[in-house]
Amino acid sequence: MDVHVKGWVRTKRGNKHVNFIALNDGSTINNIQVVADPNTIPENVLKLVTTGASLAVTGQLVESQGSGQAVEIHAKTIEVLGAADPEKYPLQPKKHSFEFLREIAHLRPRTNTFSAILRMRHAMSFAVHQFFNNKGFNYMHTPIITGSDAEGAGEMFRVTTLDAKNPPLKEDGSVDFSEDFFGKETNLTVSGQLEGELGALALGEIYTFGPTFRAENSNTTRHLAEFWMIEPEMAFYDLEDNMNLAEEFLKYLVQYALDHCADDLAFLEKRLLDEEKNKPANERSAMSLTDKLRFVVENKFERVSYTEAIDILRNSNPNKKKKFQYPIEGWGTDLQSEHERYLVEKHFQKPVILSDYPKEIKAFYMRMNDDNKTVAAMDILFPGIGEIVGGSQREERLDILSARMTEMGIPHEEMDWYLDTRRFGTVPHSGFGLGFERLMIFVTGMGNIRDVIPFPRTPGNAEF
Ligand code: 4AD
Ligand code: MG
Repeated sequence: MDVHVKGWVRTKRGNKHVNFIALNDGSTINNIQVVADPNTIPENVLKLVTTGASLAVTGQLVESQGSGQAVEIHAKTIEVLGAADPEKYPLQPKKHSFEFLREIAHLRPRTNTFSAILRMRHAMSFAVHQFFNNKGFNYMHTPIITGSDAEGAGEMFRVTTLDAKNPPLKEDGSVDFSEDFFGKETNLTVSGQLEGELGALALGEIYTFGPTFRAENSNTTRHLAEFWMIEPEMAFYDLEDNMNLAEEFLKYLVQYALDHCADDLAFLEKRLLDEEKNKPANERSAMSLTDKLRFVVENKFERVSYTEAIDILRNSNPNKKKKFQYPIEGWGTDLQSEHERYLVEKHFQKPVILSDYPKEIKAFYMRMNDDNKTVAAMDILFPGIGEIVGGSQREERLDILSARMTEMGIPHEEMDWYLDTRRFGTVPHSGFGLGFERLMIFVTGMGNIRDVIPFPRTPGNAEF
C-alpha cells in the first residue's frame, strides 16, 4: 500500500547503500522512519535531506526490520519542499540548552521537547473547557483593556493613545487621561475576576480563561508578565465549596494529562531523568514525573489555616545548617515560595490548601472572617511550584466591603459598578484563579516558566 506523508526531517543517518530519515509531522512526538535507497532516490535530492528540511514522501508502508519502530516507509519518491541549509539552520540533531532555545523562540516549537509541551498546552486547555462544560459552567469573556485594578496591587501595564513624550496635562501637572481614546486611564487586565463576579451573579457559575498581565519586575522561574489564567466564579459557594471545586479541577486536569498525553509525558519523563542524572545524588528527585502526577490525583489535599502554617514554619528547621532565606517574622508576614514549598514537600508531603490569611496581605474583595483579622482566602500549594491557585470567598456584604475599600484607599466612584452587585440581589459567592503556566510547569516537569509558553514575556523580553 502506498502512503503519502509530509513533515520535517529530525535526523538522517545511513551510508551509501541506504538512508534512514526520521520524519516528524508535529502530530505526535513519534517520528516515522523513511528508508531511502540511493538507487531509487536521486543523490541530489538526498543531499538536501538534512535536519529541518520539509519533505513530501510517497512510499510503501511495511513492517520494520529494525528495532524502535513497528513500521517504516520505503520511499518511492521524495520531494524536498523546503531545504534547511545545515550551515545556517540553528537547530542541529543534538541537545541544545534551554537558554539557547529561548533565544530562538521562533524555531523552538520544532524541537521534540517544545512540540511535546505545545501539544500538552492544547490538551490541558481542552480539558479546562471540558471540565467546566460538563458541570454546566458558562465560559465568559472578560475585557483585556480595563479601567480597574482587580488585585489592587498597582502592577499594571498602562494602555494609552496619548503621546508619551508630550501628554496633555491637567492644571496640577498630572496627565489628563480624559483626552485619551478611552476618556480615562486604562490598563491591561491583571485578572478577569471582578467582571467574572458580574457574570456569576447573573448566570450562577461561570469561568474565564484568558491572558492576564502583571507589570511586576520579578525575574523568577515562576513569574511571567503575560500569563494565562482560568478564573471560575460561583454564586452560592462558600470557601469550602470553593476548595472542593479547585481540588476536583486540579485532579481532573492532571488525570487528563495521564490519560491523553501518554507519549509526550513519557518523552518528558525521560528528559527529566537524563537531567536528574547530571545532578548530585542528594539533589535528585526520588519521584518520576508520572509518579508526581499520580501523587496529586491520589492524595487528598491537606487543608490548613495560615495561622497553623505559621506555627509549623516557626518550629521547623528546613536545613540543619541554614534557616529559611526569608525568616518567618511572625503572624502577619506573607509566605515566600520557599515556605510554601517546605510545607508541601517536607512537612505534609502532599498538595496543601492554605486558608484564612491575615486581611492585610490579601485583596480588598475577600470576605472578612468573624475574627475581623483574617479573610476567607485560600491558596493551593503544589510540590516544586508553591502557589498554583489563589482564591477566596468574596465579601458580599455592602457595608463591610465598602468600609474595607475606604480603609484601603480604593475610590468608590470608580468601583460603583462592582458595588451594584452588592446593592442589588447580593449572594455569597466564591472563586479562584489557576495560573495556566504554573499548571504547565507541573505537568511537564519543566523547571522554568519561560519554557512552557510559546513566547514568554518577561522583563526585557518582547521580541516578536
Ligand atoms: O493569586 P492571584 O494574583 O489571584 C488573582 O488574580 C485572583 N483574582 C484570582 C481569583 O480569585 N479569581 O493569581 C492567581 C494565580 C496564582 O495562584 C498563580 O498560579 C498565577 O495566577 N499567577 C501567575 N502566573 C505566572 N506569572 C505571574 N506573574 C503570576 N501571578 C499570578
Ligand atoms: Mg496569589
